[in-house]
Amino acid sequence: MLREPVAEIAALFDVYQSGLVFHCLCAVTRLGVPDHLGDDPRPVAEVAAAVGADTDALRRVLRLLAGHHLVEFEPGTDEVALTRRGALLRRDHPLSLAATFATLGVSDVAHRTADTLRTGRAAAPVALGEDFWSFLAARPDRQTVFSQAMAEQARLLSLPCVDLVDWPTEGVVVDLGGGTGALLAAVLGTAPRLRGVLVDQPQVLDRSRAAVAERGLADRCEVRAGDLFDPAPPGDVYVLSRVLHDWDDEAVVGILAAVAAGARAGARLIVFEDVLPEDGSATAAQAWADIAMMLLYEGARERTAGQYRELLERGGWHLRDAVPGPPGMHVIEAVRSA
Ligand SMILES: C[S@@+](CC[C@H](N)C(=O)[O-])C[C@H]1O[C@@H](n2cnc3c(N)ncnc32)[C@H](O)[C@@H]1O
Repeated sequence: MLREPVAEIAALFDVYQSGLVFHCLCAVTRLGVPDHLGDDPRPVAEVAAAVGADTDALRRVLRLLAGHHLVEFEPGTDEVALTRRGALLRRDHPLSLAATFATLGVSDVAHRTADTLRTGRAAAPVALGEDFWSFLAARPDRQTVFSQAMAEQARLLSLPCVDLVDWPTEGVVVDLGGGTGALLAAVLGTAPRLRGVLVDQPQVLDRSRAAVAERGLADRCEVRAGDLFDPAPPGDVYVLSRVLHDWDDEAVVGILAAVAAGARAGARLIVFEDVLPEDGSATAAQAWADIAMMLLYEGARERTAGQYRELLERGGWHLRDAVPGPPGMHVIEAVRSA
């Protein structure tokens, strides 16, 4: 007779329930609930009124999140406070992940995963009615939160890699798809005579200009609207941080060729991406990121160093090195092919 696999059933139910925890967390963060909570307990009704939520619905969602150590109810009351973990979802926390949870993303498209499994196509156009970038471009509020989410993730993933690169002391660093400029600002911080050009879609750039000005870099960093598929501005070092995994192979070759078309002789290209093992395996986090790409953007994927080497060659670059950064990130360095 089969023995009851109690632990396996419990583990499966954990997975079953965690999907809803993720959605509740994204929803409360999108409404700004953590910004109205702190160390001191506050009545749920007050928080609900502040964010325009239904009190009963919010209380029930917070009760679920309390079970996951994100908020704490004051025993015997209807008052709730943030835990240390939940505080990371406040927008004013120095290590905030608020935008990462609030942004348009996996939570909005993953319900169409079965379609993606059948077709191999991205879920975003089916779930959103248009492709991911067009959806954002038409909705400035959502675009702003997405750009903030990218800046939060750059702080965790790309910024720790800046010290792994031998940046020049002068010349021009061009950051393509540079978002709000957090990474380029850190690069320019390595050498006072280094100049920068940040290229991104026009709807992203108000925030990029403000961020560059706030960091006192306006005089040595140009912020320019441009398309990844058009020849890149002249530069000595090009940066593509978490851009290539958003695109299919042909598009990646097109982007790399467009960079090569603008690059000066001897130019270097620094790609910040995670790199999958060559044997077809992946850590759980890598597999998650790969599926997130597959759902969000047509043909997008995480890749191995060998796959990047081949695409770089096709785009006019020669891979010189790939070194690991923090978990989830590598620095790939390439030079223009002769
Ligand atoms: C995943 S984000 C990465 C942002 C930033 N490099 C980072 O590491 O945080 C991809 C960036 O590519 C930009 N992008 C997407 N399509 C683009 C296009 N056709 N031309 C220029 N930039 C584009 C997006 O606006 C976004 O800022």
